[in-house]
Amino acid sequence: MADAKRVFLIVLDSLGIGAMPDAEKFGDTADVNTLLHISGEKSFRAGTMRELGLGKIDGVSYIGLPEKAGRRAAVARMTESSPGKDTTIGHWEIAGIISDAPLPTFPDGFPEDVLQAVSEATGRGILRNEPYSGTQVIHDYGRAHIATGDLIVYTSADSVFQIAAHEDVIPVPELYEICEKARAILTGKNGVGRVIARPFVGEYPNYTRTANRHDYSLLPPQDTVLDAIKSAGLNTIAVGKITDIFAGKGVTETIRTKSNDDGMRVTDELIDKDFTGLCFVNLVEFDSHFGHRNDAAGYAAAVAKFDAWLADFLPKMRPDDVLMITADHGCDPTDVSTDHTREYTPLLIVGDKIRAVNLGTRASFADIAATAAELLGVDFTGEGESFAKEILRNDPTSGDLIEAAQLAMTGAYAPYSNYKVGAAVLTANGNVYTGCNIENASYGATVCAERTAIFRAVADGEREITAIAIVGGKDGVITDFAYPCGICRQVLAEFGTRTTRILLHNGCDTLSTNLATLFPHAFGADSLK
Ligand code: THU
Repeated sequence: MADAKRVFLIVLDSLGIGAMPDAEKFGDTADVNTLLHISGEKSFRAGTMRELGLGKIDGVSYIGLPEKAGRRAAVARMTESSPGKDTTIGHWEIAGIISDAPLPTFPDGFPEDVLQAVSEATGRGILRNEPYSGTQVIHDYGRAHIATGDLIVYTSADSVFQIAAHEDVIPVPELYEICEKARAILTGKNGVGRVIARPFVGEYPNYTRTANRHDYSLLPPQDTVLDAIKSAGLNTIAVGKITDIFAGKGVTETIRTKSNDDGMRVTDELIDKDFTGLCFVNLVEFDSHFGHRNDAAGYAAAVAKFDAWLADFLPKMRPDDVLMITADHGCDPTDVSTDHTREYTPLLIVGDKIRAVNLGTRASFADIAATAAELLGVDFTGEGESFAKEILRNDPTSGDLIEAAQLAMTGAYAPYSNYKVGAAVLTANGNVYTGCNIENASYGATVCAERTAIFRAVADGEREITAIAIVGGKDGVITDFAYPCGICRQVLAEFGTRTTRILLHNGCDTLSTNLATLFPHAFGADSLK
């Protein structure tokens, strides 16, 4: 039985959370950190993600812990296991492929044998062949191209092979065929991320590029979790540039988008649609509009916009939905280069069935693929280790909670009274925290077991307690119910509700009552209004 019917996987393109240990090998300093460096901007807001637990992720403490009760996420810091920092390698790893090399770039142009092969396959000569601005290259070589019919081939800092041609010289369908032939040639060590058709029209010097641009992505070298989900007969809905990143492989439905706003709008539509499977969304503007343009304030404002959208999205989720929010690499807008940065990425996982647990630092983005597959009940043999079992709520029974309190009692520090107490609280997020009484030679400094447990939970970012089990007895021998003292009832009222369950155990019977019964007419925040 699948634990989730729908997984929404949203990639905030380039929202890294700090340099990986090998960042310098990728040309980055050890202090690149996209999230940290935009978080100081006035336009930065991440209240919703903070409530979910963003600040609990390793290295992200500057965001802070939640202030109020609310829905929390399972969180992790994700390591990119592949040696890369580009969109394709990052997304492929998220989907379960660990690559052994980054996609090749050609700062000095493409090798002679590649150009020869393209020339032979297409019957056309080649003009240029080095990194060039797309508008400049047609300005400088357009006339030669019109005169000879040769292809204008150029690249950029990215892993791309671009072919520009005038629509009157090479009709668009023929240019597409040429690109397909080039795509077939550009594999292995020459396997660029994309071959791009760049048709243009007009007369010199007023050439303009047309909307007939077309990208031919590299086919993922192995099956991804998309293929696994599709083979299981479920949907894989690719939103934004996802379909291009996977060259359509494993995708059952494609929805291209114009902007982050558009991507969020489409996701809002999909949450109300009935489907089973994966909705994989890429929001590219963080990277394309702000990271690459070194615009930290713009980046921060875009995060604020996403965060506000997320606050409205969460309540629309259904009981068997799971939302995962992550990133594919960094692009620190405050470092000198406009390039991507080699960074860890965040992972937040939300859903009614998900418990608020901190998974620490995971070894590969591919764990996301393995986990999504397991949650959807799909067999997947790609890379990655599933942490589905660690994040699924498996709420303790009353018996479990009493047992946890009994174990906690053995830690009691009660040399003055010898009365040992243990408590175990269950939080609204499905987590259990335990405590014992801790006495003091200055008797009044003693802290009860219940408060020790509650304070542990609160210090960990929890704000709502749904149940507490308490046991106690002289020398740790449980013979009677150990009712909570008045101060502990007051503290429990701060983080509990009227229905918070209170479980007492006398070694033989369990008494299950609630806060309303044990603590009527409580003084609380409402009294202060
Ligand atoms: N104690 C608790 O731990 N919880 C209560 O609610 C009542 C009292 C502890 C405090 C002290 O160490 C010992 O019991 C005797 O008062």
